[in-house]
Amino acid sequence: MWHPDARDLKPETSHLKPLQDMAITRVLLADLAGIAEAAVTLAAGGLVAFPTETVYGLGGDALNPAAVARIFVAKGRPAEDPMIVHVADMADLTRVTTELSPAAALLATRLWPGPLTLILPRGHAVPYSVTAGRETVAVRLPDHPVARALIAAAGTPIAAPSANRFGHTSPTSAAHVLADLDGRIDLLLDGGPATIGVESTILDLSGPQPTLLRPGGVSLEELRDLLGDVALGGRAAATGGQLAPGLLDRHYAPESTLHLCVGTPAACRAWIREQVVAQNAAGHRVGLLLPDEDSALLADLDADSESLGPAGDLTVIASRLYAALRALDSRRPALILARDLGESGIARAIRDRLTRAAGRVVYC
Ligand code: TXA
Ligand code: MG
Repeated sequence: MWHPDARDLKPETSHLKPLQDMAITRVLLADLAGIAEAAVTLAAGGLVAFPTETVYGLGGDALNPAAVARIFVAKGRPAEDPMIVHVADMADLTRVTTELSPAAALLATRLWPGPLTLILPRGHAVPYSVTAGRETVAVRLPDHPVARALIAAAGTPIAAPSANRFGHTSPTSAAHVLADLDGRIDLLLDGGPATIGVESTILDLSGPQPTLLRPGGVSLEELRDLLGDVALGGRAAATGGQLAPGLLDRHYAPESTLHLCVGTPAACRAWIREQVVAQNAAGHRVGLLLPDEDSALLADLDADSESLGPAGDLTVIASRLYAALRALDSRRPALILARDLGESGIARAIRDRLTRAAGRVVYC
């Protein structure tokens, strides 16, 4: 059993302004000076948005309940939704969990640092506010030099949900973070665009069988290669096979309505063409969130199109997905239309996010 050490003693937070008085979010470049200042802010109980390889996180000291409470307020997140705790290296695991099972140790060794979050037994120092009352904690060791340097310099594990207002599209750039959280957090470290572009894979290792809770940057295939059987649980089950349009829990959502087409590329294009013509006839503009090939084949239509990249390069599509969705949404089309890209590799994560952003899933 591991015990928290003296580093868990919390500094004073009384000099930090209460959220309602906070009007200015400082934006710093993620260089050595910026990281050092952000680390001091975190250690003092402040909130810092920072880049990771998946999306930007909204960080606070995971072992300081006051900082954790401020994250929930800044994000407008319900207290029942637990947060991921980020560590800088494997040695820090002793501060957040009590033990690593053989499966956890294998995955940590092979896939960390990286876009994988493991659900592990809660360490005694982790407040229940982080885990929403659970005896498990979500832990991730990110593969981003700024994130790791920041967590190490702060000297404490960092709780960080995605740095967006609750329910909105996750941020993959500093500008996205500011659009959602300006004036609600102390500091934003600008480290350029996130490379992976969709959130980490969440794997629950707390039960008898490893269970995928959220598909993400590490694929289900990779996990099955290492562990053998991996069950689909939670939201991964809902979007793993047949989608359940009536049961959508809307998240990652744009302001405009999004409809997702599931079917062959040709059938989806025919359906999209029909929709655009009908919307145009009613005087409405449509936004298209499609791979380059589809955009080219539908270029004659009167619609706003954001280029996602080639259909054959899902890594590029994932990295551009949220920026393209935000860009289209900012033009407030009456409707955004997107097409499903399957479920192999990172396509499973793209499907999950599009499904959750969608008001309607249509089978063509
Ligand atoms: O890539 C990512 O994972 C990003 C970056 C910043 O690391 N973070 C992120 O955090 O996406 P968030 O809070 O937006 O999503 C975390 C998800 C939530 O759906 C939450 O319910 C789930 O993780 N979660 C956290 N702790 C959990 C636990 N103990 N058991 C089950 N699910 C948990
Ligand atoms: Mg999120």
